[in-house]
Amino acid sequence: MKFEPEKRKKEPLILGIETSCDETAAAVIRGRTLLSDEIASSASIQAEYGGVVPEIASRMHLNAVDDVVARALERAGVVKESLDAVAVTYGAGLLGALLVGLSFAKGFAFGLDIPLIGVNHIRGHLAAAYLEDSSLTPPFFTLLASGGHTAFLYTETETRFRCLGGTVDDAAGEAFDKVARVLSLPYPGGPQIEALARQGNPVVPMPKMFKGEGGYRLSYSGLKTAVINYCHTKQQRGEAWNRADVAASFQRAALDILVRKTVEGALACGCSTVTAGGGVAANGYLREELKSACEKAGLRLVLPVRAHCTDNAAMIAAEGLLQYRAGNFSEFSLNARASIPLGTD
Ligand code: KG4
Ligand code: ZN
Repeated sequence: MKFEPEKRKKEPLILGIETSCDETAAAVIRGRTLLSDEIASSASIQAEYGGVVPEIASRMHLNAVDDVVARALERAGVVKESLDAVAVTYGAGLLGALLVGLSFAKGFAFGLDIPLIGVNHIRGHLAAAYLEDSSLTPPFFTLLASGGHTAFLYTETETRFRCLGGTVDDAAGEAFDKVARVLSLPYPGGPQIEALARQGNPVVPMPKMFKGEGGYRLSYSGLKTAVINYCHTKQQRGEAWNRADVAASFQRAALDILVRKTVEGALACGCSTVTAGGGVAANGYLREELKSACEKAGLRLVLPVRAHCTDNAAMIAAEGLLQYRAGNFSEFSLNARASIPLGTD
């Protein structure tokens, strides 16, 4: 879509919409200032099924999107006619769920005759840090840890980053969710493991989980298998075992490596600033460890609040702002995408 640079505002008013999974979210920002941040989650309904049922997620979005957007505008104290752009997640995620938000955003932007900005959900997670600290500017080093990705990134400019490496199999969040099932914990697994781990001690031996010293490659599938084997062996032998200790041991093994590689990576890249994003970055243990490791290494850490690590629309609006500034607007023919490889859009 064409939108002349001279028409672009310095501090645009942007509506962000997110419906890629089980959260219907809308937020309004003016420049980098967050004016409102609304969310309706179907997680408790999905929990009854042990995971996200795509059809249920789509229906929940359809029911909620109108209200959530209206609430976001009201709380921000703005009328829709004053918006400068609508940013919406177009991928990656559940197709039906994405289509609800994308179709809504298209109608909204078309009706108001303002630009549409299709946002890559993962770029949204990376952009959350910009809302946390208004002075944040690239370059910086980022730990991305969500349900689908676990990677270390070097951000060069507001719209360009390099992926340096990460997991070769499961993502960290995926490992939390799978181990939670083994421990008979409900969906979503990450927060459940975190809570259980607080009641235990990391005394169960866990395997090393990196592939080659010094690099950015790591693997979660071996760690997950080790937990499954430990639990099954104990059960078969009829031996007592402590679920909380297993949770604490898994959590430490899964997250210590991320903290270590992040600090090593930032120093190796000559970055003085570290950011983090994605649902796993909401984990209290990870946040504390990352804070103290960065402090020790003399690195500045910009860590989004927990609610901006898990799925939300503020981060989509924030990424929308970066794309707006770069003049990257979408056609109204934009389609939803179930997957977008990291760094390809
Ligand atoms: O970023 P996100 O909300 O959605 C994706 O884009 O994937 O991440 C969801 C993942 C889930 O696997 C969830 O279990 C994990 O983040 N997660 C956590 C915590 N909160 C969410 N993992 C560990 N500790 C948490 N507190
Ligand atoms: Zn996400």
